[in-house]
Amino acid sequence: MNPLRSVGARLGLGLAIVLTGALVLVDLIVVPTLERNLVNAKLGQLREAAPTIGSQLVNSSPFTLDEVIQSAAASVNARVIYFHPLNPDNPSALRLFVFADSSPVTLGDVESDRLAPRAFLDQQPVSGTLTSDGERYAEVAYPVLGGPVVLLRASLADSLQSVQLVRRRLVIAGLIALAAALLVGYVAASLFARRIRRLERAADRIAGGDFSEPVSDRGRDELGDLAATMERMRQRLAQLEHARREFIANASHELRTPIFSLGGFLELLDEEDLDPETQAEFMATMREQIERLTKLATDLLDLSRLDVGRIRVEQEAVDLAELASTLADEFRAVAQTSRHELVVDGGDEATALGDWERALQIGRILAENALVHTPAGTPVRLSTARRDGSVVLTVEDEGPGIPPEHADHVFERFYRIEGGVASGSGLGLAIARELAELMGGSVELHAIPGRTIFALVLPGASEDKGQNGQGFPRGKATAPDAARSS
Ligand SMILES: Nc1ncnc2c1ncn2[C@@H]1O[C@H](COP(=O)(O)OP(=O)(O)OP(=O)(O)O)[C@@H](O)[C@H]1O
Ligand SMILES: [Mg+2]
Repeated sequence: MNPLRSVGARLGLGLAIVLTGALVLVDLIVVPTLERNLVNAKLGQLREAAPTIGSQLVNSSPFTLDEVIQSAAASVNARVIYFHPLNPDNPSALRLFVFADSSPVTLGDVESDRLAPRAFLDQQPVSGTLTSDGERYAEVAYPVLGGPVVLLRASLADSLQSVQLVRRRLVIAGLIALAAALLVGYVAASLFARRIRRLERAADRIAGGDFSEPVSDRGRDELGDLAATMERMRQRLAQLEHARREFIANASHELRTPIFSLGGFLELLDEEDLDPETQAEFMATMREQIERLTKLATDLLDLSRLDVGRIRVEQEAVDLAELASTLADEFRAVAQTSRHELVVDGGDEATALGDWERALQIGRILAENALVHTPAGTPVRLSTARRDGSVVLTVEDEGPGIPPEHADHVFERFYRIEGGVASGSGLGLAIARELAELMGGSVELHAIPGRTIFALVLPGASEDKGQNGQGFPRGKATAPDAARSS
């Protein structure tokens, strides 16, 4: 495995590079500056002392010269050399010679010094550094009264030693910091990597369909936030998975019942010698079961299309008053058979923005419920109204009503209230609500004992929307058998 794959190793390497870079920068910038400053300080010190020493030497007699030069050398901690011009009357042939020297040995390097003649010629102090016998010196040459020159030469060994000491300490401190940074970086990254690996394992479990173990991380940083988000995702996926399994179980159960019944009738028809009347009765029941199966299959198809977002809705002007009368026409025969009085209340002008076919499908679901879940002889009223910019189609009946504890659940898939007048699959209201939401509306339930009011609420179409040609109210109804399919 590539050793640099782990976050710890990469972080450690990154820290090492940064620290090494910082050390090199210190060595290239800080150390030379320190050295320059120390040399300048030494030169400054010599420059400051030179005039006093110059005047002391000029004013001393030949007898006291040696004593004066020695004490001057001791006071500035430098070698003092006192030059005199060899031929002061002829400047072009001018040369300096060593008149006195605080050092007991005057070597050739002093006689050939380049600063003293320059100071003599320019008649101003000159300073600089030089290396002699592998050692560096700071030098200041100072001309006295247009004649002699005092040369102060101080060794820089001490200053340079200090610089070397600082450099060595910096390297040691840098190495310690590097080792500490590597250690801390590696440990911190390892802890971090361990948390990441735990999240990775949790993600793997979720990807594999195992939602049983919660995702947790006690950190309050970004990883903690990520774990909390993953936990929310796990709970949501677990819910969806549960809903999916329940849906499949319910759907197979609902499909099995009519198929089982059809199988039984077919066997009876095949085996028994039945009189035509019983045969006709069987055939009618079988037709009913097939109708139930067809409706169920269409509902399931609608739901699965809603789930995958494959149902598209138009945004056109839909006249709900016209829709109510279409519904009444469609259901008049059924209402007559079940002895319900079907009333349409013409309310305000009620143009909604939505999809005519889908709005009609919802209306059919509500009207059918009002007719099948209520006892014969009770009235069913369809009405329309405008409400705060929305338009409402109301289907009201005077049946048994929906008890409050069921009111929230009747919109769930496959939910039915036991012991009702009729039994369906429990899918109608779920489809109605999802379709209404797809159009930006909703289906509301007002349950009062002895009365049930379902309301389809859709956004109202503004006047100009109806006029701009995008959608005038649709023409009369389409075929009823297109009701539940897309
Ligand atoms: N107008 C109503 N009066 C009384 N109960 C109702 C009414 N409308 C719906 N319900 C109750 O709500 C349940 C769910 O209704 P929904 O339309 O979703 O399913 P369903 O009518 O049973 O079956 P289907 O899928 O064929 O419509 C019904 O089973 C019924 O118990
Ligand atoms: Mg129904």
